[in-house]
Amino acid sequence: MKIIREPHEMQQTALTLRDKAIRIGLVPTMGAFHDGHVSLMRRAKSENDVCVVSLFVNPLQFNDPADLARYPRNEAADLEIARSVGVDILFMPSVAAMYPPDAQTFVEVTRVSQPLCGGRRPGHFRGVATVVAKLFMLTLPRRAYFGLKDYQQCRVIAQMARDLYFPPDLVFCPTVREPDGLAMSSRNVRLTPEERRAATVLPRALELAQACFAAGETNPTVIQTQVREHLATEPRARVEYVEVVNAQTLEPLTEIAEPALVALAVWFGDVRLIDSVMLTPPKPNPAPPAPDLGDISDIPHRTNVPS
Ligand code: PAF
Repeated sequence: MKIIREPHEMQQTALTLRDKAIRIGLVPTMGAFHDGHVSLMRRAKSENDVCVVSLFVNPLQFNDPADLARYPRNEAADLEIARSVGVDILFMPSVAAMYPPDAQTFVEVTRVSQPLCGGRRPGHFRGVATVVAKLFMLTLPRRAYFGLKDYQQCRVIAQMARDLYFPPDLVFCPTVREPDGLAMSSRNVRLTPEERRAATVLPRALELAQACFAAGETNPTVIQTQVREHLATEPRARVEYVEVVNAQTLEPLTEIAEPALVALAVWFGDVRLIDSVMLTPPKPNPAPPAPDLGDISDIPHRTNVPS
């Protein structure tokens, strides 16, 4: 595994590979690898010629300096994991290299950045969009892989890629969960054993939302109330938000007649966890066959997240 720390060296390497028609699969990360990261790396490896993993704790996406300071870092273990998975290039730039003092350019995705985490973490998605844009330009991937646990992040990146005509295909992969259902997150290692046990209330609350919906409930307020009431049974859980929103626009809904997202952010001690599930109404009976539209019915889909 090659380790590259200099952005220009990374870009030069990517250009050389591209000239030889070697396809790069990029997995952007902030390190503290867990099995969710490993599944993205394995997929990137299997679907491309070269797997590049970026490891960069991006200060621009932390609105709270204390949160940035506490963010888990474990470089030695990460190197070991990346090597064992067969990652070809680990790109580990410094903050000074990614954000030189004279940098003046930022990427801001407007509407989908505003609800949910956006309103509570000002500047967070501007930081995410800016660093992902830089990583795309430095690694020139054919495909880039992201976990759907950070659903709003996926929507923001899909919107940015569409608006700015970024070339990589975006591959959004299902949330990887612990055996007890807790979504894997680098932040989980910071939970005390009691908080870790308490955090299982999150997947249970989301399962309840799915069960209510499967039983025919389509009123988002009713589902939101059920989720909140379930979370309230766990005294260690401090709810930041529970929302049921349109899965594409992330805006509030009055009825779940199209795919909806139940999203939550909950604190356990000083650890903030997010999770979500999608509620997808069954498709109505198929319409009679459409007239043959020739070539235009063949336009490929660029991503697997509604955009
Ligand atoms: O999901 C993450 O780990 C980060 O937000 C990302 C996409 C690597 C950007 O810093």
